[in-house]
Amino acid sequence: MSGARRLDMLSDRWRDRVGEAVTFLAERGFTGRVGLVLGSGLGNFVDAVEDAEAIDYGDIPGYATTTVAEHTGRLVKGTAAGVPVVVMQGRLHPYEGLPAAELLLPTAVLACLGVDCALVTNAAGGLNRYYVPGDLMVIRDQIDLHWHDPLRGLLARPFAATAETTDAQAAELAAIGRIGGVPDLFDPDLARKLVAAAAETGVPMHSGTYASMYGPAYEAKAEIGMLRRIHCDAVGMSTAPETVLLKRLGVKPVGLSCITNPARETGQPELSHQDVVEVGKMVRERMARLLLAFLPKV
Ligand code: HPA
Repeated sequence: MSGARRLDMLSDRWRDRVGEAVTFLAERGFTGRVGLVLGSGLGNFVDAVEDAEAIDYGDIPGYATTTVAEHTGRLVKGTAAGVPVVVMQGRLHPYEGLPAAELLLPTAVLACLGVDCALVTNAAGGLNRYYVPGDLMVIRDQIDLHWHDPLRGLLARPFAATAETTDAQAAELAAIGRIGGVPDLFDPDLARKLVAAAAETGVPMHSGTYASMYGPAYEAKAEIGMLRRIHCDAVGMSTAPETVLLKRLGVKPVGLSCITNPARETGQPELSHQDVVEVGKMVRERMARLLLAFLPKV
């Protein structure tokens, strides 16, 4: 699906704002086949991008800048393993308290720049007792514990099929489960390719369900117990709203969690944001190896 068609799918009030940023970036050559969103402490992958050119989020029309000191906010374009990529180095988080139109604007822009698929990465706490800090997990599915559709008011109608629905619109409605069966949110084929890349490069890889909480507080013990009982394997504070938007705009999402800590229970030390960032740095070499093997398969 073209970037222009995606722009068309946005509500009137959002389309102009997203469109302004897209025009600004497209004029500067910001297009690519694969979008990458780099989570907390994982931004160093941009060092592996060749012919890189970057623009600070603050210099892009309509972008709100992140308030979290450790998250660099830049959009980078270039090639990685020979594949044209557009990289979001740093993201906004729901816990920053921004409305969805601000929070998701950079993701909408990424989609409207015309990427086919997007690898969305995050730092996460391990709920699964087999996970240790430094492990990676391909996200098989997610539970969005924000419990509301982040796209309310951001998309143009239609949300239901009518007698006037075209075949193209019907395909879009089917892709988001409004008609037909329940579609996969994360692309199964790309997930398998990520697992294959991990096997080739000797990077340990789990596959599991990601739970997205608001934060910024880390989970209470009872919440960790609840998340385990509903079979979540990792918990973080991002990714879910972005993934819903990407899928809705016809971009294939693939998700990767970097387990930075075991979710806290009895006797675990307090966890600071700095701890999370440090383990993220520890796994950057693994992640770079994995992504450079994955990208040519996409
Ligand atoms: N909980 C929520 N978000 C996180 C965690 C965690 O334990 N670790 C890194 N991001």
